[in-house]
Amino acid sequence: MDVLVIGGGGREHALCMGLMESPSVMDIHCAPGNAGTSIIAWNHDIDVNNSGKVVALVKANGIDLVVVGPEAPLCSGLADKLQKEGIPCFGPVAALANLEGSKLHAKQVMKEAGVPTADFQILDSQSDVDGALDAFSDNPWVIKRDVLAGGKGVVVTSDRNEAKNFIENSVQSDGMVLLEAFLPGEEASMLVILDETDFVTLPCSQDHKRAYDGDQGPNTGGMGAYAPAPVVNEEVYSKVLESIVEPMHHWCSNQDSPYRGVLYVGLMIDSKGDPYVVEFNVRFGDPECQVTIPLISSDLGELLMGAATGTLSEIDVEYVEAHALTVVLAAEGYPGSVVKGRRIEIGEIEDGWINHAGTGLNQDDELISTGGRVLSCTGIADSLDKAKEIAYAVLNEVELEGSHHRNDIGSKAL
Ligand code: AMP
Ligand code: GLY
Repeated sequence: MDVLVIGGGGREHALCMGLMESPSVMDIHCAPGNAGTSIIAWNHDIDVNNSGKVVALVKANGIDLVVVGPEAPLCSGLADKLQKEGIPCFGPVAALANLEGSKLHAKQVMKEAGVPTADFQILDSQSDVDGALDAFSDNPWVIKRDVLAGGKGVVVTSDRNEAKNFIENSVQSDGMVLLEAFLPGEEASMLVILDETDFVTLPCSQDHKRAYDGDQGPNTGGMGAYAPAPVVNEEVYSKVLESIVEPMHHWCSNQDSPYRGVLYVGLMIDSKGDPYVVEFNVRFGDPECQVTIPLISSDLGELLMGAATGTLSEIDVEYVEAHALTVVLAAEGYPGSVVKGRRIEIGEIEDGWINHAGTGLNQDDELISTGGRVLSCTGIADSLDKAKEIAYAVLNEVELEGSHHRNDIGSKAL
């Protein structure tokens, strides 16, 4: 089959690489893609939030399956449109993508399905903000906007003024905001591929969301990840399955149009090993995808097509017994306003590989940076230590003026 991957980040490059190794896949297309995908796929520079343009591309190229990387096209109804056209799509319809699009909706679903998550309160212009902050004052305050904010919609702070300002500004722009109880513990990400017939839990990973070493600095989209994450041991895994994945699969399968895609379960594991949901995303995580896909040894194309067509129960998934680690190279200024358009030089790579993200080619066909997270360097090995060594050795071969990265990816597990 021929597959179209929607998106242009490190996640999409990882998906294209996994599809390239799938016996079921012939040609790979990517829209818009990046310099990395251009080597293994046909890049198409179209507006992927315009579903009419995507359908036209699919028809013009005889594409059999569309795999959607980012949430925005899903939230605006790309899967609905493809479904109407009879084109298999890996990624849920808009009503279900709302699990990521609206944090309040996700909370309501979790309540309905009996899934453990932090207590919360809705604040609007009528609310007693000081009273609410007092009521949630045992720990740092967690405040979440109910909009897709590209990773900038959440503030975790012990500074009362910062909390108040964020609440007031959010209420002003969105009409309401969520104040949530702080969950102490360790985070992990579980990617669950599902349709109405079955679900498959991929190896758990751990992201590093803060910009600097030791989990310091501002929140980012993710500065590196590794898998499997030992915090999700066998006992924790069973609890996640029973209290979160099974009820969510049941809920997702009983909707008007069943969920067909991947559900990203952002977990907080407390000191007793009890899991809580911090967030749902309706797509693969980035950079979690870069360390999860390489651990799948069976045919990725078949797996994604199975979920897209409601035949997942017929698919067998196999894994490599290995550890994967990826470290993100970010442009100067990231996660604030970034410097783009700088040359990237890459030396000799012996082991491991690069997942391109914000990369492109200039008029002279030279590799340049085009985004905040420019690329990530990935290693896979039979130990996490070795995978880390490989990933950082790859990183050492990359030169980009002003770039920064974390040095401690994987250190919690090591
Ligand atoms: P979210 O976009 O909901 O995943 O929130 C972004 C980040 O804020 C998460 O990855 C956590 O590190 C942190 N966070 C969110 N909600 C909570 C919570 N209830 N307790 C502790 N940390 C949280
Ligand atoms: N790495 C976090 C995310 O993809 O949302």
